[in-house]
Amino acid sequence: MNQNLFASVDHYIKNLLAPEDEALKATIQSITDNQIPQMSVSPNQGKFLQVLATLCRAQKILEVGTLAGYSTIWLARALPPNGRLVSIEFDPLHARVAQENMQRAGLAEQVDIRVGKAIDILPEIAAQGIGPFDLIFIDADKPPYAEYYEWALKLSRPGTLIIADNVIREGKVLDPNSSDEKVQGVQRLNQMLATDNRVTATIIQTVGEKEHDGMVIAVVL
Ligand code: SAH
Ligand code: DHB
Ligand code: MG
Repeated sequence: MNQNLFASVDHYIKNLLAPEDEALKATIQSITDNQIPQMSVSPNQGKFLQVLATLCRAQKILEVGTLAGYSTIWLARALPPNGRLVSIEFDPLHARVAQENMQRAGLAEQVDIRVGKAIDILPEIAAQGIGPFDLIFIDADKPPYAEYYEWALKLSRPGTLIIADNVIREGKVLDPNSSDEKVQGVQRLNQMLATDNRVTATIIQTVGEKEHDGMVIAVVL
């Protein structure tokens, strides 16, 4: 693979179509400042999520895995003024930093960060009847991806877009004997989609400044 070429083209596209404003730059800086691992989507992936949220005219978005809120900002900026985004984050430091980043971005009114394990918060959201969501972005810990996907379906309506990040993992998904729990988690989801008649789904490979990976794109039928 020509990683340098992919990165250069990614920067070209970013400069044209996904320039970062101060709020996005400050969000990336906040990750470094707080010694949090940098696992945000890339600028072009953020813009991709925003384009998809715009396409489905999303008014309610659910995100599983906030980190510092970088993808959150891209997604929330596709919302109309009365739109809402709920984002679930397990780590209290990440959630606090993300909350500050929402304030700085002027999105604190629209974004609701829920602190806790996704597997505990998802049933709460269902019980509260906040859904159905128009777009759901799954990007937290990888081993329970299939469980998160089942919850996403419960919180959906026909037409809901479900996106799951990091499902190719530099091609490690090709190894049926992988002992990596993250790989096994995404393999389980990908395999499940093959026979799931509740959705129509594909996976796009992603190359660029981040490592080779992929995103599930599924529409609920
Ligand atoms: N979507 C973000 C990146 C998320 S990184 C972006 O692109 O900007 C994954 C996040 O999921 C981390 O912040 C991690 O703390 C969180 N996470 C890990 N396990 C979790 C769990 N069980 N429930 C909720 N969040 C979890
Ligand atoms: C990891 C998680 C992510 O969501 C991502 O986009 C990249 C890496 C990780 O857990 O290593
Ligand atoms: Mg990710």
